[in-house]
Amino acid sequence: MKISSIVLTKICFLLSVSVCIIVFLLGPRRLHFLPRPVPACNLTCSRSFLEPRSDVPRLSRAAQDVSNHPQEGKRDHVKSLGNVGPKDESRSSERLRLEDLFLAVKTTKKYHKTRLDLLLQTWISEAKKQAFIFTDFEDQELRQRAGSQMVNTNCSAVHTRQALCCKMAVEYDKFVPSSKKWFCHLDDDNYLNLRALLDLLSAFPHNTDVYVGRPSLDHPVETLDKVKGDGSASLKFLFATGGAGFCISRGLALKMSPWASMGNFISTAEKIRLPDDCTIGYIIEGLLEVKMQHSDLFHSHLENLQRLPQNSLLQQVTLGYGGPGNRRNIVQIAGAFSLEQDPTRFKTLHCLLYPETSWCPQKKRPSSFT
Ligand SMILES: *[C@@H]1O[C@H](CO)[C@@H](O)[C@H](O)[C@H]1NC(C)=O
Ligand SMILES: *[C@@H]1O[C@H](CO)[C@@H](O)[C@H](O)[C@H]1NC(C)=O
Repeated sequence: MKISSIVLTKICFLLSVSVCIIVFLLGPRRLHFLPRPVPACNLTCSRSFLEPRSDVPRLSRAAQDVSNHPQEGKRDHVKSLGNVGPKDESRSSERLRLEDLFLAVKTTKKYHKTRLDLLLQTWISEAKKQAFIFTDFEDQELRQRAGSQMVNTNCSAVHTRQALCCKMAVEYDKFVPSSKKWFCHLDDDNYLNLRALLDLLSAFPHNTDVYVGRPSLDHPVETLDKVKGDGSASLKFLFATGGAGFCISRGLALKMSPWASMGNFISTAEKIRLPDDCTIGYIIEGLLEVKMQHSDLFHSHLENLQRLPQNSLLQQVTLGYGGPGNRRNIVQIAGAFSLEQDPTRFKTLHCLLYPETSWCPQKKRPSSFT
């Protein structure tokens, strides 16, 4: 009894020693076969891109010329574009085509019927391949209608800063692999005049860094530079109001990549705690030091739309309409439809721009609009 117990103890001891030896011999070698820890993503391992960068792209000569253009001269320049009729196609030798545009329309489940339908009927029907609908719900009806042009961002449907930034991040990441020359962001209550947009963008010199839109405020936003610097210095920048729509040239959009691609947009916005459109301005004006081109041709529901002169409406790039609390804030335009038939005036506007549309009254150009 006693002897067998000792033998058993010895066997156990030998066994554990040999196991230890085997583990010791194989262990370190086995570790080499294990995959090395990979930085999960730039959201969590963001140190390197937050450090001051010496390789911030410098503006090209041409872009500097555009940026140095006196403010007033620039406004006049942009305004004068609005007066060029759609027939004057010869002005620019390098005229953009619809295919050069990537048009991101931001919407949410709640507005698929009430807002997006109207856009699908009107301007989106003229840019089916260019307009991408960024939403937060897998709406089967919309999927059938828009196919792969509808992008389910999987972002939250709540109207918070985070959810909006999440959508902007998806818009950016979808634009990059497309080979389009321009990225334009629009809201689901914007009418986009495609011809006016092409006129405006065609006028910018080829291959310059352009960020064009309506300034949200008349003074720059000031915030501590927590992204490029250590947070002790402040950074001033203007931004284009997202509700009026804005555009960014491809070259400039690519330069935004360290702070905007692959989820970096969300972490940049989190760091400065500012909304989506504001974060775009922060990256472009604040970090890349490229000035926004101000244009009076972009309009959101936040302005008094009734004040826009009737004879200039067909030259505006974007228009909006007042929400439930402000139904009377609409553009003053007479034409195909009554106020009851077309409370936003978008259908009336669309029929003036595209009279050949099937649902527009045929061959009867409104006499009140001459
Ligand atoms: C959203 O989720 C679906 C299903 O998981 C996926 O197929 C799709 O690619 C996601 N969208 C984005 C923008 O990541
Ligand atoms: C993270 O950012 C760096 C530089 O900003 C970039 O080189 C790298 O590809 C990014 N990685 C991922 C996973 O996005």
